Amino acid sequence: MAAARFLAVILFVALHSGAPVRYTPDWDSLDKRPLPCWYDEAKFGIFLHWGVFSVPSFGSEWFWWNWEQKSAAYVQFMSENYPPGFTYADFAPQFTAEFFDPDAWAELFAAAGARYVVLTTKHHEGFTNWGSPVSWNWNAVDNGPHRDLVGDLGDALKKRNLRYGLYHSLLEWFHPLYLADKECGFKTQTFVRMKTMPELYELVMRYKPDLIWSDGDWESPDTYWNATDFLAWLYNESPIKDKVVVNDRWGINTSCHHGGFYNCADKYTPSTLPDHKWEKCTSIDHHSWGYRRNMQVNQLMDEGSIISELVQTVAYGGNYLLNVGPSKEGLIMPIFQERLRNVGKWLSINGEAIYATKPWRVQTDNCTVNVWYTAKDSVVYGTFLKWPTGNVLKLQSPKPTPSTNVTMLGLTGLLHWKEDPDLGILVNLPMIPPGVFTVEYAWTLKLEGVN
Ligand SMILES: *[C@@H]1O[C@H](CO)[C@@H](O)[C@H](O)[C@H]1NC(C)=O
Ligand SMILES: *[C@@H]1O[C@H](CO)[C@@H](O)[C@H](O)[C@H]1NC(C)=O
Ligand SMILES: *[C@@H]1O[C@H](CO)[C@@H](O)[C@H](O)[C@H]1NC(C)=O
Ligand SMILES: *[C@@H]1O[C@H](CO)[C@@H](O)[C@H](O)[C@H]1NC(C)=O
Repeated sequence: MAAARFLAVILFVALHSGAPVRYTPDWDSLDKRPLPCWYDEAKFGIFLHWGVFSVPSFGSEWFWWNWEQKSAAYVQFMSENYPPGFTYADFAPQFTAEFFDPDAWAELFAAAGARYVVLTTKHHEGFTNWGSPVSWNWNAVDNGPHRDLVGDLGDALKKRNLRYGLYHSLLEWFHPLYLADKECGFKTQTFVRMKTMPELYELVMRYKPDLIWSDGDWESPDTYWNATDFLAWLYNESPIKDKVVVNDRWGINTSCHHGGFYNCADKYTPSTLPDHKWEKCTSIDHHSWGYRRNMQVNQLMDEGSIISELVQTVAYGGNYLLNVGPSKEGLIMPIFQERLRNVGKWLSINGEAIYATKPWRVQTDNCTVNVWYTAKDSVVYGTFLKWPTGNVLKLQSPKPTPSTNVTMLGLTGLLHWKEDPDLGILVNLPMIPPGVFTVEYAWTLKLEGVN
C-alpha cells in the first residue's frame, strides 16, 4: 500500500514536474509524442520538387528511372534531343539556377497564404541540393548551381516567418551501396551508415528544419533504415526536438501507421474524419511533381479545384501541401504564380475559417455536399463551394438558438436567417457588389451561437 502510494507520487512528479520525456527507439514510444502545435495550425504549405530532373523537365521527376526502364517516350526523347552516350549525370551541369531568387520565392509563398514550405533536398536520383560531404560531385555546390539551395531558401523563408520542411528520400534508385544492400536482402546496412544517416543528421544540425518529410521508404523495413533510432535522437537530443514535425514514411508499412502526421498515399483523400493528424500532398500539375516544359493548361488544377480541396482537407482535419515544380533556371512559372496568388487572395478573406481551426462535429451536410464545416472555440464556419439559386442557403447541421448570429467573411453586417421547419437553418445570402470578392469559388458563413 505504502509502496503503491510512493510509486504514484513518483509518477505524479514525473508527469507534472516538466521533466523531459525520454522516447525509446520503438514505435510504441515514439508514436506517443504530441505533435508540436504549429503544424496543425498552419494548414497550408507549398511543396517544391526541384533537382536534376528539372533539366530534362520531361515526363516527371521519375525521368531517370523511366529512361533506365527503357520506357519508349523517354528513349525517343533522348535519341531525338541528345547525342549518343549522353548520361543522366550529364544533365547536372545544366541545372544552373541562375534566376533563383529565394526572397522572391518566399514573397510568393507568403502571398499564397502558405505557412510552411517543403523542399526536396534530395529526391530518389540522389542529387543533394546542398553541399553534402557524402554525395561526392553529385550535389548543388560542387556541380550544377554551385550554390547551397537548401540553405539559401531557408534563410529567405525565415525572414517571412514561414516554417521550413526538408523532404529527403531514404533510398536512391541507383546508388551502388544501396544496390549492394538490396542484393543482400537488406541484411547489410552499409548505405544507411555511409549515406542516409550522415545526411539526415547533417540536415538537422545544419538547417534546423521545422519538418522532415521522409520518402523513398517502400522497398525495405524501418529496421533497415534505423528509423526509430534516428527519431529517438531527433525527439530527445536534437536542437529541434521541441518544434520538429515528421511524417510517416520510414519503412515498409509505416505509412498511415507510425511517425508524426500521416501522409498515407500521395493525394490521399479520406471521406470520413481520420483519427490522426494527416496531410494531403498534391501537385498543381496533374501529371508530375517536377517541372515539365510541355505541360498544357488543361493538365493543371484550376483555382476552384485547389480551393475546394483545401477546404475539404481542412474540414477533415488535414493539412494541404500543394506542389509546384521550379525550372532548372530557378523560375516558378507564371501560371503557377497566378494560381498561388489567387489562393492567397481567397485566404486573405476566408483564412479565419482555415488557420488554427478544428474539425467540427459535422464535416459536411449530406445532401448539399458543397458545404464544409470547421470550428474555432464556439464559432462554426460553413464554407460553401456553390452559390445557391435564389440566394437562400440551407445548412442542415447547425442547430440555431435565439442568439444565433450569421455573417459572411469579407462583408460587414448580420445576415437574415430563419430556422428551417425541416432541419437546420436557411440563410438569406447578400447580393454582393462586384469587386468585393476577387476570387469567387467559395464563400464562408460565420455562425455564432449555434449548436
Ligand atoms: C542502428 O542503430 C543501432 C542502435 O542504436 C546502432 O548500433 C547501429 O550502429 C545503427 N546502424 C546504422 C547503420 O546506423
Ligand atoms: C502494417 O502495420 C499495421 C499496424 O502496425 C498492422 O496492423 C498490419 O498488420 C501491418 N501489415 C503488414 C502487411 O505488415
Ligand atoms: C449525415 O449522414 C451521416 C451518416 O449517414 C449521419 O451520421 C449524420 O447524422 C447525417 N447528418 C445529417 C445532418 O443528417
Ligand atoms: C449576436 O449579436 C448580438 C447583437 O450584436 C449580440 O448581443 C449577441 O451577443 C450576439 N450573439 C452571439 C452568440 O455572439
